Amino acid sequence: RDQYAVWGNPIEHSLSPRIQMDFAKATGQPIVYTKKLGSLERFEQELSLFFQDGAMGCNITAPFKQRAFALADLHSERCLHAKSCNTLKKLPDGRLYADNTDGIGLVNDLTRLNWLVPHQNILILGAGGATQGVLYPLLQAQQHIFIANRNEEKAQALVNEFQDLGAISTISFADIATQRFDLCINATSLGLNGEDFTLLGNWVRHIPHFYDMQYKLHEDTPFIKKLKSYQISDYADGLGMLLAQGAESFALWRNVKVDYAAILKELRK
Ligand code: ATR
Repeated sequence: RDQYAVWGNPIEHSLSPRIQMDFAKATGQPIVYTKKLGSLERFEQELSLFFQDGAMGCNITAPFKQRAFALADLHSERCLHAKSCNTLKKLPDGRLYADNTDGIGLVNDLTRLNWLVPHQNILILGAGGATQGVLYPLLQAQQHIFIANRNEEKAQALVNEFQDLGAISTISFADIATQRFDLCINATSLGLNGEDFTLLGNWVRHIPHFYDMQYKLHEDTPFIKKLKSYQISDYADGLGMLLAQGAESFALWRNVKVDYAAILKELRK
């Protein structure tokens, strides 16, 4: 069977092996997909051994997405815009092809939720790597993006980088209440260490949908906990995006489409 894996550090709690093996079962693809704890010092050497041993592809997660981007031989256009790689594929000539399926995963999951129509205003909280990874596919989906970030210079730097590709601007937290939004996406890392999600205000009451790129299998994320305190009920966490990006990686490797929505339901049980 063809070998695949997800590389990260830490990696123990990754859901990707379970998800990819579910995809394989659903489509009858003969693959094995495992998890690999990458060494912070020797990730590049470990990865090249993995491919020398015959592996066909892998996913890359924190903290190796930029290092995987740097070591790949060629890149998809969306990967170049993301400046990070979550999917590697070994080509028939041995070269490594880098893709980033996070942004298309988000777009596909928003489509599944019926939250994506052209020309909406989307508020994105955060201006780190998670935001950089999804801007290009969202702009291609004809969305008008507003980025709010604690460090406003980082938001402005992203706007400068992407402004030729679509409608994108920064917005200060103080001005959020003055603008109409169709959707708010949390792309910050706030709450990952158990902190309270302090970035929200009464403005949330005027936005119809909320998407958290963070996820938790069987409980609310900090962002969603905070939304509930405002009586907001139209939210989704990022588990759907996780499956959707995985389905896109699977399609790149195996040339087979998989319906991740059914597997998402199973996973939540
Ligand atoms: P990632 O790759 O997950 O995006 P990152 O590049 O470290 O990680 O970015 C983290 C994002 O969460 C940033 O937008 C960060 O805001 P700053 O750029 O102002 O640091 C945001 N973030 C993290 N902790 C935060 C906090 N306590 N308050 C506000 N924003 C926070």
